[in-house]
Amino acid sequence: MGISKLGHVLSAKEVLDLVRNDLDRVEGVIGLESIASVEAVTTIGRYLQAGGGKRLRPILVLICSKLAGNPGDSAIRMAAVVEMIHTATLVHDDVIDFAKIRRGRPSSNAIWGNHTCVLAGDWLYMQAFQIALRERNFRVLDLLISLTQMMVEGELLQLERIGKIDISEADYMELIDRKTASLFSACARLGAMVGGADEQLETRLGEFAWNLGIAFQLVDDVLDFTSRESVLGKPVGSDLKEGKVTVPLIYALETASKAERQLVQDVLSDGNYERAPFSKILQLIERHRGVEKARERALAFTEKARMIVGEFPESPYQRALYTITEMITDRDH
Ligand code: IPE
Ligand code: IPE
Ligand code: MG
Ligand code: MG
Repeated sequence: MGISKLGHVLSAKEVLDLVRNDLDRVEGVIGLESIASVEAVTTIGRYLQAGGGKRLRPILVLICSKLAGNPGDSAIRMAAVVEMIHTATLVHDDVIDFAKIRRGRPSSNAIWGNHTCVLAGDWLYMQAFQIALRERNFRVLDLLISLTQMMVEGELLQLERIGKIDISEADYMELIDRKTASLFSACARLGAMVGGADEQLETRLGEFAWNLGIAFQLVDDVLDFTSRESVLGKPVGSDLKEGKVTVPLIYALETASKAERQLVQDVLSDGNYERAPFSKILQLIERHRGVEKARERALAFTEKARMIVGEFPESPYQRALYTITEMITDRDH
């Protein structure tokens, strides 16, 4: 039903065209609002902004505010807020994960060190909240505070599970709900809120984006095995090396032999691919259809997201949301 209600499907470029001017303004806000009285923070902020990134979260805020009918300066500010929160989480995440590369360049922790980056991340969080505070809207703050706590819980849960081979699909889902889908959902709800949506539309947009966020993380975890660093902007095979057992492996381990399981255990114990080469891990995932199953699972969530899109009145923004579901499953980075 979702598709039959849609007119011609927009291309990714047409979606970007809908928000291009707004996105330029969002970049302007981020640039202006990332200036601190201590130079290190400003420099890190600039470095991260210049590193690119897909800007998916601000795009979601903007499209949802337009779909709700009343886009305006608040939507631009909220789009900047979510991108700054996202950036802060990445700065902290790279410290926690000992990551060396992000967005195709040395990660901020690799350049400025952990101590400075923890503080710069804190500063970015607070700056995002300060921008949000200017709305004088308690619902906005309420949502952002719950969201940030949720994301921190996600990272904490992930830490608890580091190095463990017996991660169930349910454990994994609980984690990605917090660390990724919650932010996607918040983006849509914020866009809806400042765009003047009624409660029902806000809830449905939130549910749409939650499903999208789960699919996004499932695809991210697949790409960690199947992509190349030059395309992905971060090294492949990082998750397992960092001690994270994600869906392609969770599914493969369900039917893996004892010897295959031992290979995975070796990487988890060593934190490198010296004893168990990455190619061997890829082979076992392939043998047990781990990537296929993970992709199928991602598609089930985008399908749900598309069903929800089908409930919204026909408009270019409704069609844009549909295209975003495709952009997320078909992406290569
Ligand atoms: C990275 O998000 C963090 C995850 C949730 C996997 P993105 O892949 O959206 O990162 P950028 O902003 O495009 O670099
Ligand atoms: C995503 O976690 C970061 C957050 C959502 C906070 P990951 O550790 O999986 O992300 P990447 O792979 O480093 O981008
Ligand atoms: Mg990470
Ligand atoms: Mg990842």
